[in-house]
Amino acid sequence: KILILDFGSQVTQLIARRVREAHVYCEVHPCDVTNDWVRAFAADGSLKGVILSGSHASLWEDESLRAPQAVFDLGVPVLGICFGMYAIAEALGGKVEGGHKREFGYAEIRARGHTKLLEGIQDYATAEGQGMLQVWMSHGDSVTEMPPGFKLMASTESCPIAGMADEERGFYAVQFHPEVTHTRQGKAILERFVLSICNARADWIMGDYITEAVQKIRAQVGDEEVILGLSGGVDSSVAAALIHRAIGDQLTCVFVDHGLLRLNEGDMVMDMFVGKLHAKVIRVDASELFLGKLAGVSDPEAKRKIIGSEFVTVFKQEAAKLTGAGAKGAQWLAQGTIYPDVIESGGAKSKKAVTIKSHHNVGGLPEQLGLKLLEPLRDLFKDEVRELGVALGLPHEMVYRHPFPGPGLGVRILGEVKKEYADLLRRADAIFIEELRNFKDEATGKSWYDLTSQAFTVFLPVKSVGVMGDGRTYDYVVALRAVQTSDFMTADWAELPYALLKKVSSRIINEVRGINRVTYDVSSKPPATIEWE
Ligand code: XMP
Repeated sequence: KILILDFGSQVTQLIARRVREAHVYCEVHPCDVTNDWVRAFAADGSLKGVILSGSHASLWEDESLRAPQAVFDLGVPVLGICFGMYAIAEALGGKVEGGHKREFGYAEIRARGHTKLLEGIQDYATAEGQGMLQVWMSHGDSVTEMPPGFKLMASTESCPIAGMADEERGFYAVQFHPEVTHTRQGKAILERFVLSICNARADWIMGDYITEAVQKIRAQVGDEEVILGLSGGVDSSVAAALIHRAIGDQLTCVFVDHGLLRLNEGDMVMDMFVGKLHAKVIRVDASELFLGKLAGVSDPEAKRKIIGSEFVTVFKQEAAKLTGAGAKGAQWLAQGTIYPDVIESGGAKSKKAVTIKSHHNVGGLPEQLGLKLLEPLRDLFKDEVRELGVALGLPHEMVYRHPFPGPGLGVRILGEVKKEYADLLRRADAIFIEELRNFKDEATGKSWYDLTSQAFTVFLPVKSVGVMGDGRTYDYVVALRAVQTSDFMTADWAELPYALLKKVSSRIINEVRGINRVTYDVSSKPPATIEWE
């Protein structure tokens, strides 16, 4: 195993993710663990190496940000990244100087000497045959004097000591961040460290993660009860499956159907969780309540607010039934918060992080309900959550679904939401999605569903004239939307094959009575948004 000591960088979890990608087991712990803790952690001989993370802080700001001396006495390799480099310098007798303005950005780094860590890893070579790396790094403090025994491993124009190594003891330090994707060879460098230098075994798989996570959940929860708001989305589904694996019937899922779900979505969720996993799920059909509250409301933000607050009200009512009943009610609220949510809300796992705020998947509910928060996916990235879902036995189709907004079809029916509109939209959308799954791209063999990041149908409450058979029709219009994006901040409309559009259009118009015109949205984001409201 590899120990990652966290000095509070926002990207520490990325180090863990890279190590996991190399199939090596690792654990992230705060940097202020004691020497005894470190020795105990290594006592069984399975510890193969230590990585010291970066930090948001400067070395001068916080005296407590020091590496426990014991990590240098274990006889295992140590890699310091950015702040971790200063920590090594500081602990072993080098010199760190600060006071510069902190700058982030790309840098070109030149490998110096021949070290096991960088040997043969490069983006390109100079005319003299020296390896060059394009890296992401932060200039701020820097090491100005290496500790005894260290040699220069890398440098940049502005940072003469951008990497150093004491190969005899297996100590390496780099100023740049190999864990971020902007450092193109970062993955290779971290793999080199954990696999070749630490000789860690590459035998960690998602199954092991489940075993660990299950034990952790059991230890945390004991014999208490947990409730979870199941939405049918990837994160809450995987969280539910994992927690159910750990504590079985101590988990109760509450599935609020607001009447704005996709076709058969509610039944599919019930089939999976109750039918296959035998989990306890309370399905609340609140569609009439939601549609009632939405009647006459056409402003998009007002609609969002109503749906959000009604959701909380319904969930709280159900939760109250489960928590209020005698001494043994639920004490925990589980949420499918994943690592990007944690980062987004400005809180990182570490005690050392800048601000600590918990991410509110369902709007501050734990506090309002007086429940403890259980978030078993907090350390995972989206693709890891998906992998975990598959390993837990959830169907590929469910786990690799496109994102679906919380307000559901509520923001895909323009203006006032009516049941009639929702019913038409559900059927049209199901046809679009079915055909996206059916149509394969010849070059890649992938379905157009997998080639798009998000695809859906939008209901336009306007009527246009058409002709069907001998008759004139005067019916509604839908728009198809399909986008490709990596982060949903910007997006391109997808160049779907005409044959696919043709099939979808003809099926919708023929099969969904009430819709006689289908359009395709060719707007990118920006200036348009992905959703129409
Ligand atoms: P926009 O429309 O802003 O969407 O380009 C970007 C991504 O966010 C999703 N989205 C939402 N998700 N509640 C959610 O849970 C919302 O109110 C909401 N609005 C947009 C959208 O589906 C897309 O993936």
